[in-house]
Formats: sequence, C-alpha cells, structure tokens
Amino acid sequence: MRTVEIPLKENAYKVFVGSENVSQLFDYASKQNLNKNVFAVIDKNVFKLHKTKLQNVFSKFKGKFNFIIVEPSESDKSFVTLQNIFTGLLKNNYTRDTLLIAIGGGIIGDITGFAASIFARGVQYVQIPTTLLAAVDSSVGGKTGINFNDTKNIIGSFYQPKFVLIDSVFFNTLPEEEIICGIGEIVKYAYLTDDSFFSFVKNNLAKFRELDKSILERVILSSIKFKANVVVEDEKETNLRKILNLGHTFAHAIEVEQKHKIKHGEAVIIGIACSLFLSNTLSLLNDEKLAELLSLLIDFNRLISIDEYNKNSIYKNMFRDKKNSGNVVKFVLLKDIGKILIDVEAEKEQVIYSIENGIGLFTKTYV
Ligand SMILES: NC(=O)c1ccc[n+]([C@@H]2O[C@H](COP(=O)([O-])OP(=O)(O)OC[C@H]3O[C@@H](n4cnc5c(N)ncnc54)[C@H](O)[C@@H]3O)[C@@H](O)[C@H]2O)c1
Repeated sequence: MRTVEIPLKENAYKVFVGSENVSQLFDYASKQNLNKNVFAVIDKNVFKLHKTKLQNVFSKFKGKFNFIIVEPSESDKSFVTLQNIFTGLLKNNYTRDTLLIAIGGGIIGDITGFAASIFARGVQYVQIPTTLLAAVDSSVGGKTGINFNDTKNIIGSFYQPKFVLIDSVFFNTLPEEEIICGIGEIVKYAYLTDDSFFSFVKNNLAKFRELDKSILERVILSSIKFKANVVVEDEKETNLRKILNLGHTFAHAIEVEQKHKIKHGEAVIIGIACSLFLSNTLSLLNDEKLAELLSLLIDFNRLISIDEYNKNSIYKNMFRDKKNSGNVVKFVLLKDIGKILIDVEAEKEQVIYSIENGIGLFTKTYV
C-alpha cells in the first residue's frame, strides 16, 4: 500500500493507494477519529458488482450505518439526487456528527462531496473512487458539485475529503470505455508534466488498458502527486490550478452538445486534440510539434467516435463554462509538453477551426 500526502495548509489529507485495501476502510477512519455516524452514497453498478465485498466492509462497523444507492448518470448529478441523500440522512436522524462515504466514480464523488459541504453546514466525508478517472483525478482536490440547467458542475463548492482510499480491485469490473475515460485524464497529465512522463504514458497505453497492476499503480501515484502539487499551490483555482482544465473547455461543451452520449473522459481526449489545434492556430505550436503532440491521441480514434455534431452549438456551449469571466471564453493551451498557458483568448473562427480538426480525428471518416 502506498500513500500520497495532500499537504494543504488547513485541510491536509492522505490518499491510500493499494489493492484489497477497502477492507481497512474503518481502520483508516478510526485512526483519524472519523468513526462517527456513517452514511454511504454508493454507485448503483458498483453496489451490484461488489455487493459482498462492500457488505463485509460495512459489517465491521459497529456504529450507526446507513447507505443510499445512486444512479450514476450526468442527469442524476442533480438537486433531486442531493435531496434524496438529505432525505435519507434526516429520516435516519443524522446530524452534524456524520461521516459521508462516497463509493463510486466521479459522479458519486462530486455529489457526495457537495452534500457533505452543505449538510448541517458541513460534515466530514471520504472518497472511495471506483473508476480509474476518479482515482487519478476527481477524488483528489476537493472540487464538488452537481449539474444544473445543462451546465456541468455549475453548483458546487471546494470541500476536501478527510482521506481518499483507492483499491485497484474495483477497476477489474470497469467496462472498457470507462478504462479509456480514466486514460483520458492520465493523458492530460502526460501533456502537463514532462517529456519523460509523456513517453511513459505513450509507451504504456496498452498496459493501462489491460489494467497491468504495477504500471497502473505507478501512473495513479504520478498523476495524484502532480495534481497534489498544483492543488496545494492554488486550492481555489485562482491561477495555477487552471492548467488542470487542459482540454476541458472544449470537452464540457462537446459533452453537452452530444447530450452526454459521449463520456467525460472521452470528451477530454477530444478536447485536448482541439486545444492542440488551437495552440497551433495561435502559433504557439508549429506544425511539427503539433504532429508530435497529437501522436499520443491518434490511437484513441479507434476507441472513441463522434459521428455528427454541430460546431456552432459546441462554440455556444463554451460561454456557459463557469471558468470564463464576462463574455469571453478562456483556454488552457500548450507551447510544449509541460509549457502551459492559461486564460488564452481566441477568435470564433479559430475556435471553430480547432473544433473541426480536433473532432475530425475522431470521426469515422478519419483515416
Ligand atoms: N471533481 C473533480 O475534480 C472532477 C474531475 C474530473 C471529472 N469530474 C466529474 O467526474 C464525472 C465522471 O466521473 P467517472 O468517469 O468516474 O464517471 P461515473 O461516475 O459516471 O462512472 C462511470 C460509469 O462507471 C460505472 N462504475 C463505476 N465504478 C465501477 C466499477 N468499479 N466497475 C464497473 N462499473 C463502475 C458507473 O456506474 C458508471 O456507469 C463527471 O461528472 C465529471 O464532471 C470531477
């Protein structure tokens, strides 16, 4: 078992990375005096697939324990689900002395974290990410939230968990497309970190897909450490943390335009391609560099596809992104691996060109 520290000044916590370590959930909790009244929010599919294991874990807890099963869809990342959680809590007389436990992917983690941040003016929570994407990204850093009126994550808070427990055993039941989504966020770190991590990711894509244990552990640890350094520097995303949004301005707009038929991690891969084309159009990357950087994404065109899209709708959706200020869309772009620019503005024609070329890599007609 490995541990990564997230040394935030006021809310420092640990991420435990291992295999078969979910059985120690309540040991970790008791070491931090978190064994209060426990309420778990569990992804419906995870509960179905890992019921016996989870019930064994829960049976070890001697205090008050209840749970709710939540449907893991973007349309359920909503006020309705939040209300269901609060109803479950109140029906069972939970008050401020509550520990919420999120067991699921990014959707469950984001909703539960938000619920924890506002229930009884804030209760403690822990994250047990069961998707690769949630393990390498969403479970760490304290961004919580729900979608509202077709706008992703627009209602939310910054609220850090007390610890994160990553048990790779959960990944064994992930459908292939969810593994690809996790790799999407790993690919993002490849562009943000350095040449050596970029090469490591590029050379090991097949091993990630096969869920090779040691390679996966290495990439999870590296991704979390990278994110931890950024979050510690800029917890509330006033500046540096914006780099973690590479590809996301495009990705969120594409997800909404595709009515969530395309998954977040897949949209991130396409969004990064669009960002690289925009970097090229704005002369930040020359053609040769563009080709070199796109080489990491090309293989995904066999795994992800968009058949029809409306470029103007995607462009319009970008203005709803909460990261914008005023009526201007701001992008995270690259000059090279690890050389990142934030808050870059672009003309509509340049953005549309980038949407066409970025998405173009993932259409069936691409050869
Ligand atoms: N808070 C953040 O910093 C942050 C960062 C990135 C993404 N996000 C959010 O995370 C969400 C995406 O998260 P995600 O990709 O984990 O998706 P998800 O939570 O939708 O889970 C994807 C699918 O995998 C299933 N699943 C989960 N664990 C499984 C397992 N072990 N075995 C089999 N199936 C399993 C779920 O039931 C679901 O169908 C988006 O809503 C995105 O906005 C948040």
